[in-house]
Amino acid sequence: MKLLVTGGAGFIGANFVRRTLATRPEAEVTVLDALTYAGSLGTLADIADQVVFVKGDVADEAVVDELVRQSEAVVHFAAETHNDNALVNPGAFVRSNIVGSFVLLEAVRRHGVRLHQVSTDEVYGDLALGEDRRFLEGDAFNPSSPYSASKAGGDLLLRAWVRSFGVEATVSHCTNNFGPWQHVEKFIPRQITNLLVGGSVKVYGDGKHVRDWIHVDDHNDAVWAILDKGEPGRTYHIGAGNEQGNLAVAQLLCELTGADPDRIELVLDRPGHDRRYALDASRLTAELGWSPRKTDFRAALGETVDWYRAHQDWWGAEKSGVEAQYARREHGARG
Ligand code: NAD
Ligand code: TYD
Repeated sequence: MKLLVTGGAGFIGANFVRRTLATRPEAEVTVLDALTYAGSLGTLADIADQVVFVKGDVADEAVVDELVRQSEAVVHFAAETHNDNALVNPGAFVRSNIVGSFVLLEAVRRHGVRLHQVSTDEVYGDLALGEDRRFLEGDAFNPSSPYSASKAGGDLLLRAWVRSFGVEATVSHCTNNFGPWQHVEKFIPRQITNLLVGGSVKVYGDGKHVRDWIHVDDHNDAVWAILDKGEPGRTYHIGAGNEQGNLAVAQLLCELTGADPDRIELVLDRPGHDRRYALDASRLTAELGWSPRKTDFRAALGETVDWYRAHQDWWGAEKSGVEAQYARREHGARG
């Protein structure tokens, strides 16, 4: 199969490419990635001879048209993904996440190519702490941040292109991912690397916010289940039913690195910070037979800590710049 993977030099996309090469020797993979601050060729260095890499923007019609024309299926990961950045520069999110999806949808429509779009649980907005409910496919989108609104925008376009033009497309909404190759701006890698360089764990607000964590390999296995057996036009939730409070994750990371929990610091909250995300993913299990495998959170997080310990060459150069950016924002917000 000739597969186009957008955003394949980023966290989830690069893990997807690796897993695809390992499990689907027949796949011919082309990666389209703009190599923003979040993507790097270093992430694909050891498999560079097994993929075709094209540096380009998903919102660039000419590049996308040519690549889609040559493909049998497209898996669309490329996006601006960090909520804290969306509060500073939302325009980049509108362009990559909404215009990018539009350009891809038009290309798959022209060439009759299958598309799977990777989206987030954040399009539904948040739940209250302790509320006995998880989001279901079909719940209304109610995004609270520029990031989640831009992802919801791309997803709404996809629904309309399925209904109006009959494009062969699916979309999945997944919960928060963790695992190797995740940028050090994100919660788990930020705190692991803070601990590894002797810094403190920075938890926003009261630390009681809840996220539903899934290992990136489980996410990518689910994407393959959808590509193999999913019904075009259908939406699938991907989640492992693993809700954790941020403070609890911070404490676990201290334990796993042998750090004193007094290194956890409550810092200024994120504006508009969503309280709780939780998804019901039973459709995917019932219809496509997928279920998560890395369900021992402590063990999987421990493997992730070991990975960051062993790959300082990959994240070390980014670390101080990212922390300086966080410090500037906190300083600016406090005035
Ligand atoms: P990431 O930020 O690590 O990687 C994004 C990649 O996309 C980078 O390589 C970047 O260079 C590339 N990119 C950004 N804008 C582009 C553009 N305009 N054209 C081409 N390439 C561009 O993100 P990630 O965490 O790997 O997320 C991948 C996808 O999964 C996103 O669509 C995201 O919304 C979705 N998702 C992420 C999570 C999570 O927890 N990380 C959870 C659910 C869904
Ligand atoms: P993040 O990894 O940014 O993912 P998302 O905003 O998409 O859920 O953050 C995960 C949770 O951790 C979220 O509740 C915000 C919080 N957080 C912190 O407490 N401290 C941090 O330094 C970061 C980056 C996030």
